[in-house]
Amino acid sequence: MRTQVAIVGAGPAGLMLAHLLSLEGIESIVIESRTRAYVEQRVRAGVLEQGTADLLDATGVGARMRSQGLVHHGIRLRFGGGDHRIDFGALTGGRGIIVYGQQEIVQDLIAIRLSAGHPILFEVSDVRLRDIETPHPSVSFLLDGAAMTIECDAIAGCDGFHGVSRDSIPDGVLTAYEREYPFAWLGILASVAPSSEELIYCYHERGFALLSMRSPTVSRLYLQVPADERIGDWPDARIWEELQTRLAAGAWSLAEGPIIEKGISAMRSFVVEPMQFGRLFLSGDAAHIVPPTGAKGMNLAIRDVSILSDALTAFFRSGDATLLGAYSTSCLRRVWRAQQFSWWMTSMLHRFPDSDAYQARLQLAQLAYTVDSRVACTSLAENYVGYEWATS
Ligand code: FAD
Ligand code: DHB
Repeated sequence: MRTQVAIVGAGPAGLMLAHLLSLEGIESIVIESRTRAYVEQRVRAGVLEQGTADLLDATGVGARMRSQGLVHHGIRLRFGGGDHRIDFGALTGGRGIIVYGQQEIVQDLIAIRLSAGHPILFEVSDVRLRDIETPHPSVSFLLDGAAMTIECDAIAGCDGFHGVSRDSIPDGVLTAYEREYPFAWLGILASVAPSSEELIYCYHERGFALLSMRSPTVSRLYLQVPADERIGDWPDARIWEELQTRLAAGAWSLAEGPIIEKGISAMRSFVVEPMQFGRLFLSGDAAHIVPPTGAKGMNLAIRDVSILSDALTAFFRSGDATLLGAYSTSCLRRVWRAQQFSWWMTSMLHRFPDSDAYQARLQLAQLAYTVDSRVACTSLAENYVGYEWATS
């Protein structure tokens, strides 16, 4: 097989890149190790920055997001038993976010690609990237037991944190920057109307909790748990009890309902530099991970591939590789902004196992300042909705 761009991974990054390239008339083949049903059902992110939502709209894949997504113009920070609203609309000149599940975006992108007759090869295995340092790289893999090879001009490594693309780059090329956190998030989906119109980020002495949602009838909730926690130790009743304790605030009450999904996600900060080597370009979680507290991971993945699509378009149109050469630098400024914001939100809102009473007082002091000072809450707001650099 031959194509212009081989895309490894059918998550938000790989599928959005395939979509953007097809709008520019550039051919690609997407390969994915999982089944279509698996990637379409995998519950993960839920918050889209305004810029991400605008890009989906502008490229003709935003209709379902606009009809089913929930537009929010603020979030609540809850600590000391009280709520404090961060008003994105007032603080960022009317900007906001859309709550719309990542798997819905994945479904929308798969549908538009398959309806146009463009290929996604699911359930591939033994994926290997070859000759990435040359102008003629290739990707080999097994499909239904048969050996296949895609010859191409460029490879997009969109295969997430555990994929093969990053490890295909020779030793010594990449520098990794990393931080592990001594806790994880236990996340649930429940069939119950959200108990708040807006997301509630809650700091509590027993640990962080987050109330989010997917629709007027489905709630998404998270609890900070120890890093090595096992989901089997959390029967539904224990989850609700802990959520009730942490989220309690005056007369407000948290409605409970049947839990339809639950899982535990590790928390990590990670970046590799550069995000490219030869004709291999890493995008999304393959190149960087943020802890989920700032809701940035999928937004960064989509921004990376938007930059990559522009660079590949210039290259295929005129042979000009200038933008391709600048790909990593162009992405990393935004990546590091999101790294710092996500680390800051995580540090402010979680209980660290080794922290003492002094540390807890510092966190409360930071929270009180963040909700009281217009400068401090503007900083949170402009980062949460997606910081746009004033200088190019
Ligand atoms: P992935 O979604 O990981 O996709 C990679 C794909 O590659 C997968 O389908 C995988 O099966 C496939 N693959 C792997 N190896 C191979 C291989 N060898 N060959 C072929 N295919 C392969 N982000 C936000 O922006 N907002 C949020 O609110 C938010 N909340 C989150 C909450 C949780 C609990 C978690 C866990 C994450 C959250 N994120 C959030 C992060 C977000 O989900 C990720 O950043 C996003 O999925 C990254 O997209 P991606 O396409 O780069 O990678
Ligand atoms: C959701 C996930 C996040 O990581 C976050 O910060 C906010 C909301 C969610 O899944 O809805």
